Amino acid sequence: MANLSEEECRALLRQLDGVVLPRHAGIIMDGNGRWAQQRMLPRKAGHRAGAETLGSIARFARDAGIEYITFYTFSTENWKRPQSEVQGLMDLLHNYLSQSNKYIGENIRIRFLGALSALSPELQEECRRTEEESRGNTGLNMNLALNYGGQDEIVHAARSLARDVQSGALAPEDIDVSLFSSRLYTAGMPECDVIIRPSGEMRLSNFLLWQAAYAEFVFMDTLWPDFTERDFVRALKEYARRSRRFGGR
Ligand code: FPP
Repeated sequence: MANLSEEECRALLRQLDGVVLPRHAGIIMDGNGRWAQQRMLPRKAGHRAGAETLGSIARFARDAGIEYITFYTFSTENWKRPQSEVQGLMDLLHNYLSQSNKYIGENIRIRFLGALSALSPELQEECRRTEEESRGNTGLNMNLALNYGGQDEIVHAARSLARDVQSGALAPEDIDVSLFSSRLYTAGMPECDVIIRPSGEMRLSNFLLWQAAYAEFVFMDTLWPDFTERDFVRALKEYARRSRRFGGR
C-alpha cells in the first residue's frame, strides 16, 4: 500500500493527456488474501488494504475523466468462503458506507450491481441510502458489484423479460440486445471497455459477462492492495494501445 503524493498523481494525470480513455473500466480487485498472507496478517487485513486502494483508484479515475468504473467487490460465489472472511467483508462494507459524507464530498456517484436482497437488512438500507445521497454527484459513476455474478445477472434479466412475455406486455420477437441490456443491473450505462485484473490471474470469474463482450483485458502481476495510480496509468496506456475493431476490420 504505497500512497502516492498529490504531486505524483498530478504528474501521472499529465501522462494521460491525449490518451484515449475507456468510458467504462471494470476492475477485479484480486490478490488481497495473498497480500495479507505474505505479511502474516489475517485475510481481512488484505481486504481492508484493498478497500483503501479502491478509494485512491476511484479518485484518480474521477480526476482522469473516466465516466464509469465498476469494482468487483463480492461475487455470488464468495459466500463459499469461511464465515469469518465473509463477515469481515460485510463489516468492511458497513464501515465504508456509514462514512457517507466521504463520497458525497468526493463528487462520486455510487451504485450497487447485484442481488442485494441476500444482504442483511442494515446493509441493504445503507446501500439504498448511499445510492440516494450520492445521486447528484457528477465526477465519476462508481459501481460496486456486490453479491454480483454475471450469470446471475443474465438470469435475472431473462426472468424479468419472461414475466413481461407471460403477461402479454411483450412479444418474444421484441426481445433484442438493446432491450435485454436494459434489464441488466447496468441498464443505461455504457458497455465495459476494459477489464483490469491484477495479481497474475487471467480469468473473468463471472464478472460483467454481458458488458465485457468487446472489452480489452489487461492482466497485471501486482496484488490489489499494492496497486497504485501508477499501475492504473500503465493499464490505461496499455488499453489505449489496443486496436478495437468490434468484429469489423
Ligand atoms: C479477491 O481477492 C477479492 C475479494 C473477494 C474481495 C474484494 C473486496 C475488497 C477489496 C473490499 C472492498 C471494500 C469496500 C468497502 C468497497 P482474494 O481475497 O481472492 O485474494 P487471493 O486470490 O490473494 O486470495
